[in-house]
Amino acid sequence: MTEAVFANGLSKRYGERLALDRLSLSLSPGSVFGFLGPNGAGKTTTVKLLTGLLTPTEGACSVFGLDPCREPEKVHALCGVVTESARLYPQLSGLENLSFFGELCGLPRAAARERAESLLRRLGLWEAASLAAGAYSTGMAQRLSLARALMGEPKLLFLDEPTSGLDPESAQAVNELIAAQAAREGVTVFLCTHQLRYAQDLCSGYGILHHGTLLALGDLSSLAEQAGCHSHAVFRLGQGEVLPGFSLQEGFFRRPLRSEEEMPALVREAVQAGLHVYEARLERPALEDVYFRFVGHEEGGRADDTSA
Ligand SMILES: Nc1ncnc2c1ncn2[C@@H]1O[C@H](COP(=O)(O)OP(=O)(O)O)[C@@H](O)[C@H]1O
Ligand SMILES: [Mg+2]
Repeated sequence: MTEAVFANGLSKRYGERLALDRLSLSLSPGSVFGFLGPNGAGKTTTVKLLTGLLTPTEGACSVFGLDPCREPEKVHALCGVVTESARLYPQLSGLENLSFFGELCGLPRAAARERAESLLRRLGLWEAASLAAGAYSTGMAQRLSLARALMGEPKLLFLDEPTSGLDPESAQAVNELIAAQAAREGVTVFLCTHQLRYAQDLCSGYGILHHGTLLALGDLSSLAEQAGCHSHAVFRLGQGEVLPGFSLQEGFFRRPLRSEEEMPALVREAVQAGLHVYEARLERPALEDVYFRFVGHEEGGRADDTSA
């Protein structure tokens, strides 16, 4: 099967500055990939290389087997791209922007209009459908830009910080639409973000990029293992009861687990010891915990900058 995204030793230098250092990556079709890293890590540079806006200094990349530098039109026909700078026609309404773009993508006029209307509804922009895009707020323009990227029914969506600057409700609408694209339409998603909570809800795999270097790659549990973040067993017991070997934190007994396989035995032992187990749960490391182990708190950027 052809990889949706492939990079091998992909590097980009801007003058003296090495923005991307030998990135190797391979994403199968249908995956939802979170590309995480603080500002300046090289995420946008990677998206530009993969969409043919930049030429690699070294190494190679492909999108569904196509070289983005040699065959940019074919790559663009397969991809939807949402970048920080939304390129919309300010004098056209939201609906007109989308319909026009749909027709550029080869949709018949009626089909383009139908898809445009449905996307505007799903992104909470229906009220503003006939408003000139130039009058849209930043958040609305960002959602319109996502809608535009979806007009051509892309097989691969590049989303560069699609929810930064959005209020939580709009961000939620955007995330739901992204998740639906992946789940229902099998779209591959390449999501650059440092909003880790959203990423954790959406993505099945992650890459952590820092100073142009890919520090880690994998799903959450494999990243947690690489970072040395453990799952914890957490118990809430009857008044005055204690669990040996656990530490008490805010009314809960916690203990790190070497493996989740330890959990059933811990529950059994607590019950057999006559303790009143009101609550017993397995607490897995969050993406945030794992990310900051790799990137460090100083440089990690905001963990959840919904206020941005
Ligand atoms: N056109 C450019 N010219 C010179 N340096 C650049 C240019 N674009 C990006 N950079 C530098 O490359 C590094 C990676 O930038 P970028 O890919 O935008 O990171 P991110 O998207 O992760 O914030 C940064 O240090 C940035 O300053
Ligand atoms: Mg960027």
